[in-house]
Amino acid sequence: MVIRPALPADAQDLAILGERLWRDTYEGLIPSSDLEQYLVEAFGPDRQAAELADPACRTLVLDEGGTLLGYAWLRAKGPAVEVPFERPLEVARFYVDRALHGTGTAQSLMAALLAHAASADHDGVWLQVWEQNPQAIRFYAKAGFTDAGATVFLVGSLTYRDRLLVHRLRTQVD
Ligand SMILES: CC(C)(COP(=O)(O)OP(=O)(O)OC[C@H]1O[C@@H](n2cnc3c(N)ncnc32)[C@H](O)[C@@H]1OP(=O)(O)O)[C@@H](O)C(=O)NCCC(=O)NCCS
Repeated sequence: MVIRPALPADAQDLAILGERLWRDTYEGLIPSSDLEQYLVEAFGPDRQAAELADPACRTLVLDEGGTLLGYAWLRAKGPAVEVPFERPLEVARFYVDRALHGTGTAQSLMAALLAHAASADHDGVWLQVWEQNPQAIRFYAKAGFTDAGATVFLVGSLTYRDRLLVHRLRTQVD
């Protein structure tokens, strides 16, 4: 298993992977019409190609012999929520194939993204996680994230209550 930055040529595979893992995570937990609408809006090769071409974004992928099995989509754009950092990096999506849960693979992907964030001179990483996703909340806590309050996420017709999690990074000037 290799962890590497996604390339423009990965757009199609990333679109398929992103849709599959999002569906695996939330199917049955949110209304199916909202889920399908979100998948159409959020994934697809054109959307992935645009994200890969965006200099403010970076995607790290788990690549096993040419098959993508997880990814972290990172975004260095100004957050819509207040975070306690001057140069924040958002973990906009973090998804690992179910077959790899509990194997430590997600920890490796997290270590790679934190190393990237530090090397790119970010002073903190933040993310939103659904309050009804205890596995992810536990995972992020183990990775050093702390709870910075409540926030929301809109999917289709409904607003979901999220937790805002933050992880301060040591920088050269600290
Ligand atoms: C979030 C994710 C990356 C974590 O990876 P992982 O390999 O499952 O991580 P871990 O093995 O460290 O498991 C995390 C913790 O959740 C616990 N856990 C596992 N299944 C659980 C469940 N159904 N409910 C509650 N906790 C659960 C594990 O026991 C572990 O805690 P522990 O180390 O104290 O025992 C992975 O589960 C995933 O990709 N989930 C689907 C996508 C997702 O939800 N992404 C986050 C969006 S913000």
